[in-house]
Amino acid sequence: MTTAVYPGSFDPIHGGHLDVIRRAREIFDRIVVGVLDNEQKNYLFSVEERAQLVRQSLGPDTDITVRPFSGLAVAFATAEGATVMIRGLRAVSDLDNEFQMALMNRQLEPRIDTVFLITGFSNVYLSSSLLKDVCAHGGSIEGLVAPVVERALQTKLRSAPATRAG
Ligand code: PNS
Repeated sequence: MTTAVYPGSFDPIHGGHLDVIRRAREIFDRIVVGVLDNEQKNYLFSVEERAQLVRQSLGPDTDITVRPFSGLAVAFATAEGATVMIRGLRAVSDLDNEFQMALMNRQLEPRIDTVFLITGFSNVYLSSSLLKDVCAHGGSIEGLVAPVVERALQTKLRSAPATRAG
């Protein structure tokens, strides 16, 4: 049985992430989504909120595991018994940073390989930052995130100062 870990910030999860998870589930037996808890980052949602939004976006019938983690992604993956790390690619420009991370992760833990999955065309332009910005300025993000995420973003951003949308 191959376990793959999909680490990320998921602040919040959007259609591109869900597309990657769906594709990964077709390939691997067990998927664990790791939601990073990093105190140095200024997330819009707390780690519990982000993990909960991932679970709710996946729906009640999923067999995907969702766990918050802190520290190194390879340590989290090892603790989950994973041999694969999933990362999504939207464009070639993503590859620069992803390539560097994959090689550093391999240096840290040679038993874990990174597998890149390319997001579907309809999702290539999505990013959590862009969605937060659009939502904060009153634009529609319907269909780009799960309805529960859309509501959470509207609640958080439209009652918060604009500076939190970054
Ligand atoms: O969704 P993101 O922000 O692109 O995800 C980045 C993430 C969480 C995968 C990366 O920052 C990470 O793995 N952080 C955990 C700490 C770590 O392992 N750092 C070394 C990476 S080479």
